[in-house]
Amino acid sequence: MTFKTIIEPFKIKQVQPIHAPSREDRLSAIAAAGNNLFLLHARDVLIDLLTDSGTGAMSSEQWAGMMRGDESYAGADSFYRFESAVRDITGFTHIIPTHQGRAAERILFGAMVSPGAVVPNNTHFDTTRANIEAVRGIATDISCPESDNTQSVLPFKGNMDIDELRSILDQFADRVPLVMMTVTNNSNGGQPVSMANIRAASELCRDRGVPFFLDACRFAENAWFIKLREDGYEDRTPTEIAREMFSLADGTTVSAKKDGMANMGGFLALHDDELAERCRSTLILTEGFPTYGGLAGYDLEAIAVGLREALDPAYLRYRIRTIEYVGDRLVEQGIPILRPPGGHAIYIDAKAWLSHLPQSQYPGWALALALYVEGGIRTSEIGSVMFGLQPDGSEILAEKELVRLAFPRRVYTQSHVDYVVEVLHHIDAMKTEIPGVRIVNQPDSLRHFTARFETV
Ligand code: F0G
Repeated sequence: MTFKTIIEPFKIKQVQPIHAPSREDRLSAIAAAGNNLFLLHARDVLIDLLTDSGTGAMSSEQWAGMMRGDESYAGADSFYRFESAVRDITGFTHIIPTHQGRAAERILFGAMVSPGAVVPNNTHFDTTRANIEAVRGIATDISCPESDNTQSVLPFKGNMDIDELRSILDQFADRVPLVMMTVTNNSNGGQPVSMANIRAASELCRDRGVPFFLDACRFAENAWFIKLREDGYEDRTPTEIAREMFSLADGTTVSAKKDGMANMGGFLALHDDELAERCRSTLILTEGFPTYGGLAGYDLEAIAVGLREALDPAYLRYRIRTIEYVGDRLVEQGIPILRPPGGHAIYIDAKAWLSHLPQSQYPGWALALALYVEGGIRTSEIGSVMFGLQPDGSEILAEKELVRLAFPRRVYTQSHVDYVVEVLHHIDAMKTEIPGVRIVNQPDSLRHFTARFETV
């Protein structure tokens, strides 16, 4: 007899109490935070779905590894354990630890991108875009056309538009220093990329002599979707699939705060000796010696163990099913989410759901505020506040106004998730009362972190 309930494949042996702020507490907390959820104190949040980054629960094996952490400045045992875990999964020659993903990006783009250079990506995450723009490169998103329709249920809506890539490589032959591919595609709904699409991009880049890099924070979730959805992979293990994904690339930037299952860390890994040497020079200047790169020995241990745990089929089955379960409950209720659900998060289409609000009043931001005020749930807007401000200071509204419910790994149980669904059903009943917002003040870039808002 096989039972259909997919259980959390772990038991809990340490708990952290969560506080339950009253509605009044929430109203005063959000007012003090300038109506910006990033500026709340975490203790004023009931269920924190702001991000799945660095917020996961570590396993007893990870903690055991941390106790083994070797804190030698150079050549620590922990580094070699980390290096061998990363090499085993990615196959890259040079493994360069960094304090998190964006440090790997900054070092890589600093070494490869010059002013005016064009860097295509299926969809850049905000830090990737900002790090390219910081060295005056041009970050270009070329997601596949199928991803424009938020309601179509297709297997690989994270894919890159390969025709568009070819046309960019034709048009700007000498101005493309590298091509990036984000797996899963976080800014486009956490949608997976197929092996066929990775291979097509890789072959085109190799043909043109352009290095091809993966932004592979969520490589394990992507591998699981390939196993579930792509012909020929059903009998392959997630580890085998991940190895094949990395074998198609010349290098990767990884935030270990996602599928590294760690609270901090990241790495840059690549084959090119000369490029690796230049990256290590910057690393020493800004992160630390190449065998620790801004991390403690115990962080390296946590990542070495975590990368393998993220590829465990029982874990991935539970992980992806949890997100799908929430998605199913919302679709049943007619709540417009980006379909099908992605790997780490549910993305609500706030423009469609709060159709009474003009886009200039940031419906995504307004919805995220309502989720907090009504239910104590913290989420993030992935829309015009995050993407709207152009490098020249002008404002162009984003194509989609999404609110992301990102689920930390191994943190919340089924009843937490059922509560979130219940709050969303309540919002569905009162959504026309949700007011729009306007920006009171904002910084020049990455404004969503610190801008302040008022309701309209
Ligand atoms: N690339 C992608 C696709 C990401 O999602 C992130 C982080 C990064 C790079 C940067 O990594 O945070 O370790 O420096 N995403 C987090 C999020 C912050 O909430 O989606 P980092």
